[in-house]
Formats: sequence, C-alpha cells, structure tokens
Amino acid sequence: MTSTILQDHQASGQASTDFWRTAVVYQIYPRSFADSNGDGIGDLPGITSRVPYLRSLGVDAVWLSPFYPSALADGGYDVDDHRNVDPRLGTLADFDAMVSALHAADIKVIVDIVPNHTSNRHVWFRQALTAGRGAPERDRYLFRDGRGQGGEEPPNDWESIFGGSAWAPAGDGQWYFHCFAAEQPDLNWENEEVREDFRCTVRFWADRGADGFRIDVAHGLRKDMSEPYPPWGEIADIMRPDGSHPLWDRDDVHEIYADWRRIFDSYNPPRYAVAEASVHPTRRARYAAADSLGQAFNFAMQDAGWRAEDFREVINAGLADMINTGSTTSWLLGCHDTPRVASRYGLPFEAGSLSQQVARAWLLTDGVAPYLDRALGERRARAAIMILLALPGSTYIYQGEELGLHEVGDLPPEALEDPMASRSTSEKGRDGCRVPLPWNAADPSYGFGSGSAHLPQPDWFAAYAVSVQDVDPDSTLNLYRQALALRRQVFPGSDISWVDSEPSVLHFARADGARCITNFGTEPVALPSGEVLLSSAHLDHGRLPGDATVWLRML
Ligand code: GLC
Ligand code: CA
Repeated sequence: MTSTILQDHQASGQASTDFWRTAVVYQIYPRSFADSNGDGIGDLPGITSRVPYLRSLGVDAVWLSPFYPSALADGGYDVDDHRNVDPRLGTLADFDAMVSALHAADIKVIVDIVPNHTSNRHVWFRQALTAGRGAPERDRYLFRDGRGQGGEEPPNDWESIFGGSAWAPAGDGQWYFHCFAAEQPDLNWENEEVREDFRCTVRFWADRGADGFRIDVAHGLRKDMSEPYPPWGEIADIMRPDGSHPLWDRDDVHEIYADWRRIFDSYNPPRYAVAEASVHPTRRARYAAADSLGQAFNFAMQDAGWRAEDFREVINAGLADMINTGSTTSWLLGCHDTPRVASRYGLPFEAGSLSQQVARAWLLTDGVAPYLDRALGERRARAAIMILLALPGSTYIYQGEELGLHEVGDLPPEALEDPMASRSTSEKGRDGCRVPLPWNAADPSYGFGSGSAHLPQPDWFAAYAVSVQDVDPDSTLNLYRQALALRRQVFPGSDISWVDSEPSVLHFARADGARCITNFGTEPVALPSGEVLLSSAHLDHGRLPGDATVWLRML
C-alpha cells in the first residue's frame, strides 16, 4: 500500500531548470576549511586549492559562511565591511580566482549576506558613536535613551540571543540594541541609507559571479521599537504564528526581500536566495515565496531524534511546504550552529528533548556524559544522509559531515571562540563543529595547513582524514560520493509516496520504481525484491540491518 504525498505537477516550477531547486550545496566555514599559508586560519586560496576535492565529492554548489573583514567576535558574522574580503582570508582577487575555479568545475557559489547587523568596527558604527545623540549617523542603528537620571540603565530588559542584555551603552546616556553579541549592533531598516547599501552589496557579489545568497537571520531586520516596551517575559518566545513579535518575523520584512527580488531577477540567470528563518513552521512558506527569497532552510531535521516517526513528521511538513510555496525544501542535518549530526545520533535518545538539546547538554560536560557511541552515531548519520538525498528538493551538507566527523566535545575553555560560550551560562557554544577539517592523517594540523589550527584538533581526527577515507571503499566519504553521483539519475522529478511498513521502518517510493528504505530498529528487516543501488551498511543475507538505509529499484 502506498499513499502519494507529492506529485510532480503539485510542485509548480519543478519543471524549471533552476539549479537550486534540487541542488546539493556544500557549506564551507572558510576559517576552518583549508589554510593555504600556514597562519592557522583557513582562507580563500585554501578553498581554491580544494576545488578538485569538491568536484570529486559531486556537489552542485558551495555556500561560504562570511569571509568579510571581521574581528571574529561571532565567527565572521560580525561584518566590518560587507563588500570586501578579510585580509587574513585573502583579497577580492582571490575571491575572483576561487569563483573562476569553482565555476570551471561546474560548482555554483553562494555568498552569505548578513543584513541584520554590522560589526562594531564598521565605519558607520564608529561614526554613530562619535557623532553623538540625535545625529543622523545614529539613525542607521537602534540607539535609545537609557533609563535612570543619567541614562545609566538600559532602555528595557530585553535579552540577547547569546545571553545577557540586548543593549550596550554608548557612553553618553544612550544605548544601542544588539540581538546577538555587543559587537554586532543591529541596523535600522527604516533608514533608506541602510536599504540602499544592501542593494549595493547584493549587486556587488552578483556582479562578481555569486550565483545565489544565503540570508543570515532573514527573520530579523524589521523591528517595532515603539514604547511602551513589552517586558521580556512576554516576548522571550520568538516563534509566533501571526507576525506580532516586536523583533522577529514581522510581515514587513518581506518588502525588503521583494525589493531584492527585483535585483536578483535583473540578472541572467536570476540569482537565487535561501532564508535562514527560525520562525513558526506555519510562517516559513512566506520566506520561500517566489516574490520573497524563494527558498528557506528546513531546520527541523536538526531537532529530530533518530526515530522513524520523527523523520516521517519532518518530511511530511517539508513536503507540505513545497506544495504551499511552489518552491523546494532545503533539507539539512547540520550547520555551523549545531552539534554535529554523527554525535547527535550517537547519544542516547531522550523522549521530550530535541536531539540538539541532548547534544548541547553533553557539551556542557565537555563530552563526558552521557556516553557517546561514536560508531553508532556515524552509522546512523550515513543512513540519514541517504534519506535526505532521496527526497525531492535540495540538500545542504555542512563541511565534515561527508567524513562522518564528530563534534569535538572537550575543547578547553581557553580555546573557545564563540561569544555564546562567554555570554551564556548555559551553553558551551558552537566551536565543537567548527574545528578545522582533517585532510591528511600524516601532516601537521592533519593537512589543514602547514602550521597549527585556530581551534585545536583532537588526536582522533587522524582516523577521519580524507587521506584515510579516500582509500577505504566503505568510508563515509566514499558513500557520499556514490550517493551524490547516483542521486540525480535515481530520483528525478518530485513524485513521492509513503509505503506502508512496520513502525521502525521508513519506506518511500519515488518515480520509476526507486525506493528508499531505512531501518531505525536493531533487528534486520526483509527487503522487497529489487536491485540494490546503494546501501549505508552491508546487507545481512539480503536483509537490511538496523540503523541503515538502502536505495533500490523494484524489479
Ligand atoms: C546566524 C548565523 C550564526 C550567527 C548569527 C548572527 O544565525 O548562522 O552563526 O551567530 O546569525 O549573525
Ligand atoms: Ca591562512
């Protein structure tokens, strides 16, 4: 028995050749990818030198997290200049060379736009501080008078996403608002200069060859900062179904994206965008609408536990989004903000807790408790990526997932770089998934560069190095390569139906008899007769073992 959930004609625009609708996009965190000059920081020439690797992996596009000039108060999401390259990472000429090399390898380039805030070192913010209260330079940001006689108290009790107050003093009785770190003052999107500057930024990178954009905190930007301010207790939950939150997911943010859409569409081919929108699930479709950003990340898989019913629920919601928007979902298992997927699946399942929460609690113990079963986590992560790659839509892979890399749980406190670690009392932060990649087991910093790495790499990284996995036909890297090579031919179009199966098995059918079957249980299960195209683990006398996925074609 099968039940159809999506048919080709339901996802309008599916017939279109827009690459992004079905692309596999590889996320590069530039500072931790490859270091060309041995200073411990990954850079753009390092990325260019690894284009052959990306090509052999078989990805359609790369998304680069920020490479702009930055003091790295938030890993580069504190941008000093949105239209330049950090001198430690290279030059604009290096960017151009990287884009040429990627394009020559048929890999598209997606640039990260950070419009909610600048860094506190941005020329505008320095001008705002010196210009003083009431000056037009302050109107580009969100300055407000403090409470108390000399303004020595912040304007209200609102909190930063990273912990602590969302206000920092300007030194003259005024305070500026920052949703994230104090080094990331929020821009005032009512200000026409701000709007014009970002039009300019979007055009700047599109003119330089960017094929698309990832929009950072797309649900931010517009704010209602009018008084009286609601107390924090009333607005701490940012996920509202109706756009009424004063800081997040306001309806009028889409005016900005409609404006950008005109710019995107003025190029041939049109540029595309994907929204990082942490919003109520019923609101995600707005960001994926054709007259807004066009696509939105589906983060729900990062929270799903390793259970068939959790995966089924997330998949159904993502497919419903596709029907509602005419866009495609962008599936992902992780990113630079989330504990690595292999570790999430190697920790015990806790009913009522999101998979991320369990891993974050584990990080607070420096990775000591509960016990992390590394092999189990890797095995499940292999099975999981085969599910994502078999679904209609696009998939984002975070660098290192293709190596089955685990979160580094025991980074010493003095090594931590993430402001979340210093500002929050309840989070260790996101550095554990940002440790530089191991390329070569025998080299210093495992081939990341000729020197050391900006975050310390543990000894066990050696076993995950590309050099080791290259020569092992069963490695996770080679599984990714095979899956990416097969995916397009095995799963064209967007038809998908569920196939009835036992509760611990997830089974769906795609066009032309292609099937994806995952066993979330521990006992092997029988398979329908068909040609096995790929499996995440060796079959057990023709049966699918636990924690494994198989792709097959029905005979
Ligand atoms: C996004 C980024 C995250 C960053 C934040 C502030 O959520 O993914 O890394 O800290 O925006 O820019
Ligand atoms: Ca470097």
